[in-house]
Amino acid sequence: MTIRVGIIGTGIMGTDHARTLHRFVPGCTVAMLSDVDVERAKALAGELGGANVTAEAHALIQSSDVDAVLIASNDTTHAEYVLSCLEARKPVLCEKPLAPTSAECHDIIAAQAAVVGDGNALVSVGFMRRFDPGYVELKELLQSGVLGAPLMVHSTGRGVSAPSGSSELTVTGSAIHDIDITPWLLDSEIVEVSWQAPRCSPEVTDRQDPQFILMRSADGVLISVEIFVNARYGYDTRCEVVGSLSSASISEPNRIIHDQSLSHGYAYGADWRPRFADSYRLQSTAWIASLSTGRPSPLATAEDGLQAALVAEAVIASMYGGGAWVQVPGASALGTR
Ligand SMILES: NC(=O)c1ccc[n+]([C@@H]2O[C@H](COP(=O)([O-])OP(=O)(O)OC[C@H]3O[C@@H](n4cnc5c(N)ncnc54)[C@H](O)[C@@H]3O)[C@@H](O)[C@H]2O)c1
Repeated sequence: MTIRVGIIGTGIMGTDHARTLHRFVPGCTVAMLSDVDVERAKALAGELGGANVTAEAHALIQSSDVDAVLIASNDTTHAEYVLSCLEARKPVLCEKPLAPTSAECHDIIAAQAAVVGDGNALVSVGFMRRFDPGYVELKELLQSGVLGAPLMVHSTGRGVSAPSGSSELTVTGSAIHDIDITPWLLDSEIVEVSWQAPRCSPEVTDRQDPQFILMRSADGVLISVEIFVNARYGYDTRCEVVGSLSSASISEPNRIIHDQSLSHGYAYGADWRPRFADSYRLQSTAWIASLSTGRPSPLATAEDGLQAALVAEAVIASMYGGGAWVQVPGASALGTR
């Protein structure tokens, strides 16, 4: 059975997902594209050899030519479109964040429960680092016990430059990856956070950049997250787990060392796409395989999206609270799990 995918948002990520599905993912076809900038969607449809195009995202969701929806429009549109997919009873892969606020994530979880009951969840979230071979291997190493008891995690995310935004957007849009992946690695939820910052980069005027976030997991691991979205030199993510017996780091970004012009080294990507190309492909492949076989989706869930939103809100509360430690309200305490 071929899964006919409709993609909402044909900007950087929607285009990347469409190309990945079209070129590399078996069992699916990109059947329809939607963007408020309809010319952008048309150009992508032409490249893919003729997907249908509509400017109206709800028409795509309701179309009988679409079996599953991938949402890659702006963050503030996610909740509306995910709820619309649930109403249409269609599986949906929503780019991170599931929604910018925990209240919207709660609404999605309640709507999903009403639609599917005990059946397979329809909502998956694009926390693709869970499919990155480096993070997967690091988690396996942790689970094998060779690192001993995990004590600290150092997670770093640097980008070349960010479009105009805010300090809060750095948390909900960028640090959200670290907020999701570190408790996933440790298999332990984040219970408290503290937001800190050095002086702001003199090159940056729209937000505090860089930011430094401390997070404590339920089993006592201290996690440092450095986020610097205008670091200039390249897209660079790092992750080290310090354990009681040994430590391990992901060695990406690059498989190729290039010797040239009296130098020895590797090139950084200009953004996240080259670094996480395998993750996007493996994530989409797993999503389509789950839909084809009727098995539950192995991707991040709506509950994972809610948990990340709750941690992000606690980080922002600390940002406005002088860096004080802020407790993360338990999702279970809020009656969602
Ligand atoms: N998983 C990741 O690594 C990753 C990386 C970057 C971005 N993202 C997420 O992907 C999403 C898209 O990011 P992007 O970088 O591609 O942004 P982008 O600005 O390049 O693309 C967004 C597209 O959505 C369209 N759009 C805006 N409002 C719309 C609406 N109401 N209905 C339909 N289309 C609409 C815009 O016209 C644009 O083409 C965001 O949610 C972002 O947070 C995820």
